[in-house]
Amino acid sequence: MPIKITDLNYVYSAGTPFAKHALKNINLEIPDGEFWGVIGHTGSGKSTLFAHLNALTRIQSGTIEIDEFRLVGNGGKKPKRKHRPDYKALRARVGMVFQYPEYQLFAETVREDVAFGAKNIGIKGDELDTRVKSAIEMVGLDYADVAERSPFDLSGGQKRRVALAGVLAMHPKILVLDEPTAGLDPRGKRDILNLITEIKSALCPTVIMISHNMDEVAEYCDKIAVMANGELKFVSTPRELFSRADTLEELHIETPCVTALARELNGRGLNVSVAALTEDELVEEILRAKGANA
Ligand SMILES: Nc1ncnc2c1ncn2[C@@H]1O[C@H](COP(=O)(O)OP(=O)(O)OP(=O)(O)O)[C@@H](O)[C@H]1O
Ligand SMILES: [Mg+2]
Repeated sequence: MPIKITDLNYVYSAGTPFAKHALKNINLEIPDGEFWGVIGHTGSGKSTLFAHLNALTRIQSGTIEIDEFRLVGNGGKKPKRKHRPDYKALRARVGMVFQYPEYQLFAETVREDVAFGAKNIGIKGDELDTRVKSAIEMVGLDYADVAERSPFDLSGGQKRRVALAGVLAMHPKILVLDEPTAGLDPRGKRDILNLITEIKSALCPTVIMISHNMDEVAEYCDKIAVMANGELKFVSTPRELFSRADTLEELHIETPCVTALARELNGRGLNVSVAALTEDELVEEILRAKGANA
């Protein structure tokens, strides 16, 4: 089990009148090689939970095991020495792409920006150059064209790719993306999602994507975790989750467009499966149902 979260709790501003219990007794196991989506209303604790995975947020109580790394809460204080993992190695294992990562670019050239994280974990020389070049190419940018340019001269979509390349150059095995498609147009969203799928098969076998877009988690993810109010409410396949109208209503989760259309058609007498998740599946269902009606 590469990621195992046990009894994780987190309180912001603990002990003050502003205390906020952001994570409540989270237990979760994420196996190797899956593409997970994490959904839930604003403020439900998604970002707080996943910022724990590479120890950017210090565990207060509970444990997180990731492969050979073990993070143990010590009441929000620095962990005891015997419980301190090799943080550099952990951050190389778990790549974290924050929301709007393009705002965190800072270096004078794209090449330096992409190299920053890898350099920090001790990669240097030819190995560093090779990683930087291949990360830039992997995100679909032309190395010769962009390497020596200022990242600030690129378009928004290109900047986001540069930020992603900086994480990939660390060769993470687990990639966590916090709303990677936020603010992009439909074409840009699709390009990024396809890119993430390619990265998953080429470099990072486990992908965790926080998203507010039900269509994209329905189409791309193997499993979906639903958070509400600091609690983990539900983990299932997209097909199971989105075919349960009662659960969606109870958790105030929107239905993906394709599923909603399938329900509408079904309600109007065309016998299509309401478990359709992608446009292709729905088209198949409509053709099948029409064929059966003919
Ligand atoms: N630095 C902070 N100080 C105090 N409270 C915080 C802080 N960061 C988050 N919170 C609170 O903790 C709760 C969980 O926040 P979190 O950012 O994890 O939610 P989220 O599910 O990622 O939301 P969103 O979808 O808006 O990104 C919210 O109530 C939020 O207001
Ligand atoms: Mg968030």
